[in-house]
Amino acid sequence: MITHNPHQATLILQRINELASISESPGAITRTFGTDAFIKGRTLVAEWMQQAGLQTHIDNIGNVRGRLQCTVSGAKTLVIASHIDTVLNAGKFDGPLGVLMGLSLIEQVIEQKKTLPFHIELIAFSDEEGCRFHTTFLGSKVVAGNFDNNLLNKQDNTGTTLGDVIQAMGGNAGLLQHDAITAGNWLGYFEIHIEQGPVLYEKDIPVGIVTAIAGQKRIAITFKGEAGHAGTVPMHMRNDALCAAAEFILEAERFAASHMQQVVATIGTLNIPHAASNVIPGEVHCTLDLRSPSHQVLTSCYTYLEQLGAAICQRRNIGFDWQLVQESKPVTCDANMNRLLANAVRQCGYEVINLVSGAGHDAVAVAPVSPVAMLFVRCFKGISHNPLENVELKDLAAAVEVSAAFINLLIQKYNKG
Ligand code: HGY
Ligand code: MN
Ligand code: MN
Repeated sequence: MITHNPHQATLILQRINELASISESPGAITRTFGTDAFIKGRTLVAEWMQQAGLQTHIDNIGNVRGRLQCTVSGAKTLVIASHIDTVLNAGKFDGPLGVLMGLSLIEQVIEQKKTLPFHIELIAFSDEEGCRFHTTFLGSKVVAGNFDNNLLNKQDNTGTTLGDVIQAMGGNAGLLQHDAITAGNWLGYFEIHIEQGPVLYEKDIPVGIVTAIAGQKRIAITFKGEAGHAGTVPMHMRNDALCAAAEFILEAERFAASHMQQVVATIGTLNIPHAASNVIPGEVHCTLDLRSPSHQVLTSCYTYLEQLGAAICQRRNIGFDWQLVQESKPVTCDANMNRLLANAVRQCGYEVINLVSGAGHDAVAVAPVSPVAMLFVRCFKGISHNPLENVELKDLAAAVEVSAAFINLLIQKYNKG
């Protein structure tokens, strides 16, 4: 049995704070794929893995990989992972919490000289958020063997391609397929992550079990009108791209809200090229993030909103371009792993709470090749993607306790063979 100790949580929090101090924007936490800050953070995590005694390397997509081999021939690999890239002006727990909790668990296995019936690989994924190239799960897709090489030509807003960034980071885009853990070698995937929602906080329970992860579609939309002089063009003669976008945005909000929690729609970015206070906006670019736990609802809402946008633009004589940039189907977490996770929660004296995740996670990219399980940790009021994101030390300690119990149950299960 791996035993846990209370100061593990303190060390985890110290490391989370140290990693959070590395950012590409002063006064905020931002580490996006391939930037100097990302590389500095990645180097720190690799050092921690090496100090722990893991066989550590950086793969071609920039993931940090730390491996603890067992001596059983033909053993499979349990991957414990999350991501170390962030959104802009992020909180410090979304991603790093799972990586550093995994590191602490493995340090206990090594310190307590546990013999394992399976290998453990700790992975810090390099790009889960997709902030730079608007495509998510780049790191986990490589490890799962389902990376689409067409993504290498994706450009960021400076025109730099993903392939350029991989090369600049020392990776070889031609070797990405060699970084995969082949489908037959996965024992399972375990990710610890903040809930990023209010349920555990409202119920006053430190941890929860994820049963499913919502599907998502990310769309890039362009509204094309006609720029004009703000003072001379009469209202009835305008092709104002921003007013068309505004009507669409409010209609999308009303439509999603009418679906009783079945779908969420978010316009997260809006950009007006050559914007000026005295110019009628001729062009507007925005992004739509659409999510639902139901693939059928997600698909029908996607179709409806595309038609809605086209109809608004036709009526307003505005050009409308709608590009699906990224999509992932809803994922169901593995029932067998979740049974063990629920036993671990009960062993530690907590109520078992099952949750659907509205947020996407690297588990989505891994699910096609491995059973996946996720443990959610309560965060302050469910706030995330926000510097106010916070996790109490006692909840970190609870998650350490439950995760150690879960690993013990896995060891017991696979020792029996
Ligand atoms: O957007 C998400 O769901 C996750 O934070 N990448
Ligand atoms: Mn995350
Ligand atoms: Mn996130």
